[in-house]
Amino acid sequence: MIVIKSPEEIAVMRKASRIVAEVLDEVAMAVRPGITTDELDRLAERLTIEKGARTAFKGYKPRDVVYPKNLCVSINNEIVHGIPSGRKLRNGDIVGLDFGVVYKGFYGDAARTVPVGQASERAHRLMRVTREALYAGIAQARVGNRVGDIARAVQKVAEEAGFSVVEEFAGHGIGRRLHEDPQVPNYFKPGMPNPRLQEGMALAIEPMVNEGTADLEILDDGWTAVTADGKLSAHFEHSIAITANGPEILSEL
Ligand code: MF3
Ligand code: CO
Repeated sequence: MIVIKSPEEIAVMRKASRIVAEVLDEVAMAVRPGITTDELDRLAERLTIEKGARTAFKGYKPRDVVYPKNLCVSINNEIVHGIPSGRKLRNGDIVGLDFGVVYKGFYGDAARTVPVGQASERAHRLMRVTREALYAGIAQARVGNRVGDIARAVQKVAEEAGFSVVEEFAGHGIGRRLHEDPQVPNYFKPGMPNPRLQEGMALAIEPMVNEGTADLEILDDGWTAVTADGKLSAHFEHSIAITANGPEILSEL
């Protein structure tokens, strides 16, 4: 069931997503060679509390293994859900930062991938294309279109650049829960559920784009998704609302 949000509820979600964007900005600025991913996690937690919200991912338990940290930090071949640790970032890495908060009962969720120091031209192109795929998807998030229009637009940008989209994880509705209906996949196949988009829907659109194969493996920590071929992956995500005038990006400053 897809929950439609009132303008008042969207206003609260705007604030929740704004906090996510502000925290991601500060965490991205702290990214540098030598910093540990745990330090980034603690920074995100502290800033969130200062802003009057709470972090959304810590303690989340969709399956058997609880997510233990506040931030997801996914390095190089890690696609999503990398768990912060004592690992130090190195010059030339690319790092996906995925973060969510709860504010006055509503969730905000966003992600971006940034270079650590000087990354390769190849890595920069992957990040640029993934971000463009996200924005192409967002542009389709209009009343009268369908979820599949978002999915197709994301997939087209990624595949025309010679990259592949991850199929095991999808974007999602967002609101009083982190993951609501509908699922928002980053690829389209005939016969998929394909609901029509309506005013008042709120979606988290989140392409994960791989340099090589779309196939993935999950590490023994039960969370970290890595590319099956060890090549790079990038992830960008925004929380958006569908308005009568088109998509409103809630998690952009
Ligand atoms: N943006 C991711 C998602 O929507 C983050 C979830 S991390 C988790 O699935 F720990 F909360 F699962
Ligand atoms: Co999400």
